[in-house]
Amino acid sequence: MAAGIDDIAIYIPRLYIDASDFAVNRGLDPVKLQKGLGVSQMAIVDANQDPACLAANACLQIMQKNKLSPEDIGRLYISTESAFDESKAMNSYVVGMLEQVYGQGAFEHCGGVETKFACVSGSYALYDNTNWIRAGEAEGKYALVVVSDIAKYDMGSSGEMTQGAGAVVMLLNDNPRLLAFDPKVTSTSIKDEYDFYRPFGKETPIVHGQYSNLLYMIQVRKALEAYKKKVLSTGLIKMGDDETILDHMDYINMHLPYSNMGKKALAYLVRHEWRQLPRWKKILSDIEMNEPIPKDPRGTIESVLGDNEFMAKDHEFTKMFTKTPEYQEIYESKLSSSLIASSMIGNLYTASLYLGFRSSLEFEHKKGIDLEGKRIGFGSYGSGSSAMVFSGIVQPNFKDIVGRMDLEAEIGNRRKLTWEEYEELHENKLSPEESMVHTNKEFVLVDVQTEKENRGERRYVFNE
Ligand code: COA
Repeated sequence: MAAGIDDIAIYIPRLYIDASDFAVNRGLDPVKLQKGLGVSQMAIVDANQDPACLAANACLQIMQKNKLSPEDIGRLYISTESAFDESKAMNSYVVGMLEQVYGQGAFEHCGGVETKFACVSGSYALYDNTNWIRAGEAEGKYALVVVSDIAKYDMGSSGEMTQGAGAVVMLLNDNPRLLAFDPKVTSTSIKDEYDFYRPFGKETPIVHGQYSNLLYMIQVRKALEAYKKKVLSTGLIKMGDDETILDHMDYINMHLPYSNMGKKALAYLVRHEWRQLPRWKKILSDIEMNEPIPKDPRGTIESVLGDNEFMAKDHEFTKMFTKTPEYQEIYESKLSSSLIASSMIGNLYTASLYLGFRSSLEFEHKKGIDLEGKRIGFGSYGSGSSAMVFSGIVQPNFKDIVGRMDLEAEIGNRRKLTWEEYEELHENKLSPEESMVHTNKEFVLVDVQTEKENRGERRYVFNE
């Protein structure tokens, strides 16, 4: 049975900090953000928003757009790493908000949980809900999978230039207009790691950025190896002698903690895949440099990162490789469109990969490319750490969805924050009633209880 993504919607907060303003105020070169990381603007949540509001606003949008009633929905999953409660699941808050519009008890028949595994948990939720549909358990109902996060780092930390916020919701069914997932090939890797984590009670994560970047690429490569074995053993893809698995993906969407990380990760995967092929000899001869090898090739990530000579040479090699026409061709045709939204919005943690997917669909379609039948590969990564590689095929009715996509309109009118406003919001100095903008027809947070017996209870309203 086919199962996959029927429709997709996004909700992006109405405030942002401009990368150049950020750089000036942090004493950084603006070119580092714009060219080095691919960051132009970072979405910031208002004082009356939290990840549950973002998720509920995205859900309402997709339901209204498709004229769905709560009866049509069988499952509502939320994946996030911005949870504010250790026990109560975020989808319960979202159900509460949606019932303000659809009536109390309207979602009572629904099931669902909040899932957590840093940025990869949304991919697990998609996989599990796709299998719920494939198993014939859905009884004609849809699943809503929402990925919603606020990527917030400590003031002055190196992660602060890779912030962002937003939610993406995907509507799943057994007759998807957008993308049907390839069956029996989803592959994973998992390892106990401390590259990025957020201990109980801490609002911002502890991050080892360079370690995390390298671990991301290693883990996704491992999942890609497993994926390769599965596509060959299931007969989904037949590979010629001078081919790699990436040749069989028309588009490649990578997890995007910042836009340029996609480019970096793709280069890593392509290098790994091409190394075994005749075409690699030509690349090395054009670059006029051999691929550098660490002093301890079987060493740990720390030993590789600590090998300064290797790191410098590898950086130089990567730069030259990414300038070759062969890599440029792959980058332009398979990845570049997925990076556009990320540079305008920033890091969305769980939602980053899916914002990239959505971005790719819109901007590839706008190039006039017929997307029907194209295979889209996904490289999902979550710190801590786990990776997932999977793929799907764009469906014949994709134009019903993609033809109406308009990123700028969907982001809506945004207000640029001054540095003082940004700092106030970042340090949580404002209460919900001191929000910077007033929005219509959106869910907002109005109160978080502080009394002993109901501490942490949240109240939301739908702004008419
Ligand atoms: N002009 C142009 N480019 C510049 C520059 C300048 N003045 N200064 C630096 N750059 C480039 C660097 O060469 C580098 O490019 P490369 O990746 O192609 O090598 C890039 O900008 C970033 O610079 P770098 O020195 O590596 O940045 P950093 O160490 O200060 O921080 C991160 C970068 C990504 C490690 C940091 O922002 C971070 O930790 N972010 C969070 C990452 C995260 O969320 N990980 C979670 C798991 S995915």
